[in-house]
Amino acid sequence: MKLLITGGAGFIGSAVVRHIIQNTDNHVLNLDKLTYAGNLESLAAIEDSERYTFSQTDICDRAAVDQLLQKFQPDAVMHLAAESHVDRSISGPADFIETNIIGTYQLLEATRQYWNTLSEGKKQAFRFHHISTDEVYGDLEGTEDLFLETTPYAPSSPYSASKASSDHLVRAWYRTYGLPVVITNCSNNYGPYHFPEKLIPLIIQNALVGKALPVYGNGHQIRDWLFVEDHARALYKVVTEATVGETYNIGGHNEQKNIDVVKTICALLEELAPNKPEGVEHYQDLITYVTDRPGHDLRYAIDASKIQKDLGWVPQESFATGLRKTVEWYLSNQKWVARIQSGEYQNWIKQQYQTEKA
Ligand code: NAD
Ligand code: DAU
Repeated sequence: MKLLITGGAGFIGSAVVRHIIQNTDNHVLNLDKLTYAGNLESLAAIEDSERYTFSQTDICDRAAVDQLLQKFQPDAVMHLAAESHVDRSISGPADFIETNIIGTYQLLEATRQYWNTLSEGKKQAFRFHHISTDEVYGDLEGTEDLFLETTPYAPSSPYSASKASSDHLVRAWYRTYGLPVVITNCSNNYGPYHFPEKLIPLIIQNALVGKALPVYGNGHQIRDWLFVEDHARALYKVVTEATVGETYNIGGHNEQKNIDVVKTICALLEELAPNKPEGVEHYQDLITYVTDRPGHDLRYAIDASKIQKDLGWVPQESFATGLRKTVEWYLSNQKWVARIQSGEYQNWIKQQYQTEKA
């Protein structure tokens, strides 16, 4: 197969590209704009493969996307390119509207035009796989409910509203034009190569240099964590095996309160990085409660029984083993982090946490 993957230099996209190049015979074209979140160093392990090609392209650039589709002739498109950080969407929603909504529209139209040129057999086998989030469902207030594929959409942030909008466009292109789509909605990912603006890598990095560990509000919000390599395996199963028009929720059965995640990271660091920064007696002492995120969703939790039943996918990593692997990875890959924590990243940290987290 030939797979065109958008956003393949990002956190999840790079895990998908590595998974496909290392575990299958397929060819990958990685189409990525290389925003602040895109990093080709995350692909060092596979960049020399003859089955891997990269193009620095914006999904909003229709002419460039048309050309790449014609030249590469993919059997499937896996669409991961997006602006992905909720806090950034609150302080500056414009890029989220542009990439997540307009960009998805441009990619759908380019793909539809290309798909219409294919033979009948290739048309039927083709897939447009849209990678989305559980945040489109809004949040859950009780402790029992789970997100199902049929849960009504109720997004809370500019980010989740833009992702919900893109999901609607993808479904409309299926219903109206017959474009063979599949959609997945996944819970919070964690693991290696995660950009250190997100909770888990941010806490690891701040702790290692003795900075405050910022917990929004009371820290009782709940997320359902999935190891990124489990997500990559699920996405490959969906793009190769799922029936056209289907939606699958993907989650790790790992509900954790934010404050517990932060405390677990501190405990792992006590064991794995016992030489603490000057003045720090216990990593936990760095925990600092800061102003809550506006519109902060309280709880996400996924019912992943449909993908288990239809495609036989189950996560392999428990939160305990996955988080340990993640902390170990950051400890061994400080160079990767250091190169990211330059220019644009510093501006973001200054703007977002100002007095609270410096
Ligand atoms: P990320 O921010 O780490 O990476 C996004 C990638 O998209 C980057 O490489 C960036 O350069 C690229 N990109 C951004 N705008 C682009 C544009 N206009 N054209 C081409 N490339 C562009 O994101 P991630 O965490 O890897 O998430 C990937 C996808 O998965 C997103 O669609 C996100 O909504 C979804 N998702 C993420 C999570 C999560 O926990 N991270 C969970 C569920 C779903
Ligand atoms: O649920 C899937 C979503 O998970 C994806 O669609 C998003 O792309 C991804 O970024 C993630 O969104 P979250 O907002 O849940 O992730 P984040 O790491 O930003 O925050 C996780 C939780 O931790 C959330 O409740 C907010 C809280 N938090 C976050 C930061 C950055 C803090 O308490 N302090 C922080 O400094």
